[in-house]
Amino acid sequence: MKTLNVFALAFLGILSLSILSSCGGGKTSDQKGDTTQVSKAAPGAPSAEVMALGKGIYDAKCKACHQPTGLGLKPAFPPLAASDYLLADKKRAVAQALNGSQHEITVNGAVYNALMPQQVGTVDSAVAVINYVLNSFGNTGGTITADDVKDVVIDKRK
Ligand code: HEC
Repeated sequence: MKTLNVFALAFLGILSLSILSSCGGGKTSDQKGDTTQVSKAAPGAPSAEVMALGKGIYDAKCKACHQPTGLGLKPAFPPLAASDYLLADKKRAVAQALNGSQHEITVNGAVYNALMPQQVGTVDSAVAVINYVLNSFGNTGGTITADDVKDVVIDKRK
């Protein structure tokens, strides 16, 4: 029930934002120089609203380990900037933000095996923060939506 409401809110937010931006006229061309814009994948870069939400979550929850630069901290914390592991599977990244991760992974040729605790409690928070990291630190990783991850199960044990 709660999840449904969150989806409805997120949908309304995106809807109102797209209505706003379609009335915004020249705004998009003003932002041409922004290198974090996504060039591939439908339907383009995440909205400014999602990016702002994601940044708030990143700064509060992820920065301590993955660093303000997204470069991580060897040997404990893998990078998110230009991470082949992250960019290979957006859905897995959302699942990691929701449920944490603790197994051996190889990121850009380096092996990591440490505990990332569960970070966020809702799918829309996980989606927002992953959209943020996919489009920050030089990444142009496209977007992911709540609909794309509807079969990801939130592990309630944690
Ligand atoms: C307490 C430190 C810590 C925090 C906080 C943390 N992580 Fe992680 N993260 C890790 C560790 C350690 C790994 C490697 C996990 C493993 O070995 O399974 C990891 C792995 C990852 C990966 C996959 C590997 C990669 O580099 O691409 C992603 C994506 C990720 N974290 C995203 C996030 C996001 C988004 C947040 C905030 C919502 C976050 N992490 C918060 C420690 C942390």
